[in-house]
Amino acid sequence: MTKEYTLIDKRSSAASHEIMGADESARKGHCDFADKNVLLIIAGGISAYKSLELIRLLKKFGIKTPAILTAGGQQFITPLSVSALSGEAVYTDLFSLKDESEMGHIQLSRQADLIVVVPASANIIARAANGMADDLACAVLLAANKDILICPAMNPQMWENKATQHNIETLQSRDIDILMPDSGEMACGEIGAGRLPDPEHICAEILSRLSGQAKPLTGYTALVTAGPTYEKIDPVRFIGNRSSGKQGYAIAQALYKQGAEVHLISGPTALTPPKGVHIYNVESADEMLDASLKALPADIAICTAAVSDWRVENAADQKLKKCDDGLAPILEFAQTPDILKTLAEHKTLRPTLLIGFAAETNNVDKNGRDKFKRKGCDALLVNEISAKNAVFGADHNRVDYLTQSPENKEINTDAWPYMSKAELANMLVSKIIQQLEKTKTIPHTQCSTPKLKATK
Ligand SMILES: Cc1cc2nc3c(=O)[nH]c(=O)nc-3n(C[C@H](O)[C@H](O)[C@H](O)COP(=O)(O)O)c2cc1C
Repeated sequence: MTKEYTLIDKRSSAASHEIMGADESARKGHCDFADKNVLLIIAGGISAYKSLELIRLLKKFGIKTPAILTAGGQQFITPLSVSALSGEAVYTDLFSLKDESEMGHIQLSRQADLIVVVPASANIIARAANGMADDLACAVLLAANKDILICPAMNPQMWENKATQHNIETLQSRDIDILMPDSGEMACGEIGAGRLPDPEHICAEILSRLSGQAKPLTGYTALVTAGPTYEKIDPVRFIGNRSSGKQGYAIAQALYKQGAEVHLISGPTALTPPKGVHIYNVESADEMLDASLKALPADIAICTAAVSDWRVENAADQKLKKCDDGLAPILEFAQTPDILKTLAEHKTLRPTLLIGFAAETNNVDKNGRDKFKRKGCDALLVNEISAKNAVFGADHNRVDYLTQSPENKEINTDAWPYMSKAELANMLVSKIIQQLEKTKTIPHTQCSTPKLKATK
């Protein structure tokens, strides 16, 4: 959802259209970037030369671009060319007497409005993900108190390597933004994902962050349920399931990043709640329903929680003991409330967009479709869970995205590829934004607030 900006320079390249053209506020001069400072960290990759073009573009908006060139970066471009283009200082050394007399590794981020690593090599990504501070660039990233945008660029095998993907997910989980690389033919001749996006595109991303423009979900409220529920057997035992909550937490984070006010109702998990999201910790299905109803009104509700279908009717107040006769206790089960269906059938406060998840072990397609028909939600993401297709607790997911045609009520199945839960969350949130734009839905929740108190 990159906005477009007017660039005074009327170049004819197709890519430059991204920053020329339509943005009214920029055209009228409402976005004044003249006092902005973007700290560029240029790492060691073949596309380091593109950072020079980026500096040129940013300079046209009056944006200052002090830069750090890593040791790798200096193998590809020189501090002199960077500083000649930017007219700003270029830093290369952590142990510089001159720069460190002003605590350069701290101050550089304090003076910046945004930090952009461009290109980000696999190496700097790995070092940043591991919290290393063994050169100026990584020390600045670790000490940063500003938003960070990382623009990876590398050979497709390096990019797809599990180590790199894991590092990317680690950085994303720390609220560091990643500008995903483009696909195509690489400098090394191989084809795949890993190419640095055009400088015009990176420039537009930077401008959009600096202008603080309203994000697409600003003003919208979202409710997300996540994790398992625990149904009490006695004071020390419970019936639970293997849900880790990772998918729901990733969705909550993705919604928040797009500007939504997010209420995350979570069963017991070992996860750290995403920054900026209101968290409500619950245990049982009953508590999760209660909290979900109190979180209404919500424009968007996404039920990812693996809610137990049953609770124990005759849960004991005291710890159950083994009997000498060897007989096991008999547990009586009762069905728990159906949270998704309850929200779908809510007479006055049905969320405008209600999305559910279904985990199936067999007949995935049929069971998913049947569930979609039964629940009354607007979309259902169905995943197969089996020994060969671990989803619970894993970092990746593969889903079928079911929606219903408004015209003939036919169910459409979109088979999404295998991807990380963070990527899936972003893809789902893009669909939500498209849907809200298509139906011209305006936030209906601004006048009333949920009756729920956050855990913290
Ligand atoms: C010709 C050449 C091109 C390279 N291109 C890339 C690249 O595009 N992306 C990348 O991650 N590493 C690339 N590398 C490897 C990095 O330069 C190397 O890992 C270096 O240590 C990174 O340094 P940094 O941590 O300062 O970025 C390349 C190496 C060579 C010799």
